[in-house]
Amino acid sequence: MITLEHIVAARARCDEVRRADKTVALVPTMGFFHEGHLTLMRTARAAHDLVVVSLFVNPTQFGPSEDLDAYPRDPEGDAKAAAGEGVDVLFAPTVAEMYPRPGLTTVTVSEVAKGLCGISRPHHFGGVATVVTKLFSIVGPCTAYFGKKDFQQLVVVRRLVEDLNLPIEVVGVSTVRERDGLAMSSRNAYLVPDERHAATVLFRALTAAIETMSGGERDASRVRAVAADLIVAEPMANLEYVEVVRADDLAPVDQLEDGVEHVIAMAVRIGTTRLIDNATFTIAAGSVNADLPSLDPL
Ligand code: PAJ
Repeated sequence: MITLEHIVAARARCDEVRRADKTVALVPTMGFFHEGHLTLMRTARAAHDLVVVSLFVNPTQFGPSEDLDAYPRDPEGDAKAAAGEGVDVLFAPTVAEMYPRPGLTTVTVSEVAKGLCGISRPHHFGGVATVVTKLFSIVGPCTAYFGKKDFQQLVVVRRLVEDLNLPIEVVGVSTVRERDGLAMSSRNAYLVPDERHAATVLFRALTAAIETMSGGERDASRVRAVAADLIVAEPMANLEYVEVVRADDLAPVDQLEDGVEHVIAMAVRIGTTRLIDNATFTIAAGSVNADLPSLDPL
């Protein structure tokens, strides 16, 4: 694996590989790798000739009161872990390399970026859309891997690729979880033991919501309420939102329709740590097909 800090070098390597009729994969990340990130790398490795992982804690997607300075970092550990997954290029630019001066050009994706996390983080998806567009421009035509853990981000990226005709194929990868169901996240490192235990409420709420639908419930607001009640009952948890929306465009729904992919998505504060989680599901012939594992007996 080579680590590159410079845009021209990363672009040249990707161009060279494509000229030899080989394929390029990109895995955008902010580092502090866990099994979720490594699964994206492994999935990319299995399908492409050159695997590029970008590691850049993008300042423009953090709000003024958010955790940019505290965001966990481990550049050496990350380089070892990426090399262990057979990654070819770790693209780790500095802030000055990516933003030599404040950008006057930004990418704004409307509608799908407005609800859910967009309500409490109004500038977040603009920062994500802009940096991801820059990464796509640097790496060039490729297949880009994103986690469904950040489902709204995946929808925003799919939409910007479609709207701007970018030569990028976007692949969404299922959420990787801890044994007790907690979705892996770099921010889990902030949780003290009591909070870590309380954090399982997100997975438990998703599971209860899916079970309610398996029992025949088709009213989205009642499904939502089942999840919300569980979270509100957890003393260490503070519910920001839980919504049932269409997976494709994140539009709210009243009645769950057969054959349509939906997502139940939530943001919950455990102490000062903000966690998100979601599950996609489709109802067909009376049964609910959800992208949510049942747990191994502990
Ligand atoms: P980051 O939070 O580092 O996540 C990098 C990628 O890993 C994202 O696509 C995210 O959805 C995926 N991921 C995180 N946790 C996961 C899990 N438990 N299972 C599967 N995939 C998981 O998301 C970002 O960085 C940034 O916003 C970025 C896209 C890099 C733009 O700055």
